[in-house]
Amino acid sequence: MKTSTDHYQVVGNPIAHSLSPQIHQQFAAQTQQALHYDKQLVELGGFAAAMDAFIQQGGKGVNITVPFKQDAWQYADQRSKRAERAGALNTLKVNADGSTFGDNTDGLGLVRDLIQNQHIALKGQRILLLGAGGAVRGVLQPLLEQQPALLHIANRTAAKAEALALDFADLGKLHGSGFAELENLEPFDLIINGTAASLSGELPPLPEHSLITKGSAYDMMYSQTPTAFVQWALQHGAAKAVDGLGMLVEQAAEAFLLWRGVRPDSLAVMKTLRPES
Ligand code: ATR
Repeated sequence: MKTSTDHYQVVGNPIAHSLSPQIHQQFAAQTQQALHYDKQLVELGGFAAAMDAFIQQGGKGVNITVPFKQDAWQYADQRSKRAERAGALNTLKVNADGSTFGDNTDGLGLVRDLIQNQHIALKGQRILLLGAGGAVRGVLQPLLEQQPALLHIANRTAAKAEALALDFADLGKLHGSGFAELENLEPFDLIINGTAASLSGELPPLPEHSLITKGSAYDMMYSQTPTAFVQWALQHGAAKAVDGLGMLVEQAAEAFLLWRGVRPDSLAVMKTLRPES
């Protein structure tokens, strides 16, 4: 069924919790654009078929979340430079001829929220990044561009963290390991949780002393109540522990710019989603 209003959606599994439709509808109202944005739950292994059908029905663009970011990278006909390097993408634009252009706006969204909105420094800092999936791949290059003293990736499956560190070693000081090895390392100034653990209310197995006193913690997932990781950080002396709502809105603003040619006011939307921010 083709509709006259441009159609966009976010796909993932799970997807019920996604605030992306709300955010993009607000961007559309702000910039006086007419568009329809909804969410689609896609079965594992079903990404390409879901995209083919969406494009067949006249869909104009898609945001991609857990666990399809690497599938989306495979699917795209062309990719931006940053998406090419990431090996994962969160945004697809459908061209007039039905071909797709893939981008990854996650890293820019994360760095913008950390530095501009949360005032968390990155340059010269010791940063620990948890996870080694598509979400983490997308933020490595933009984080390393901020010149941290060290970026350490820890993952439940150690081999994936080690492989990722090797893959991006040309961009900065980068190491990878399992969680157990963190016992032997100095505490970090900032810990970023890029695992999917928060989605199921779980906490990555962090050693007690991983964060310096008055350090910062950032969960790339977001939730109406503090995530297990945010709670852990606050209980372990963090001066600041925030979830990824700001990253979500910032990456969405960049996707909207790619699709519609205009950058919306992300801060205004953030204030409606979480009035105290
Ligand atoms: P995404 O696109 O969000 O990165 P993904 O590619 O499926 O999704 O990756 C999920 C990441 O979260 C992985 O790093 C995974 O660890 P493994 O590589 O060992 O599977 C991590 N993860 C998921 N649940 C977790 C949990 N309960 N504790 C720790 N790490 C978890």
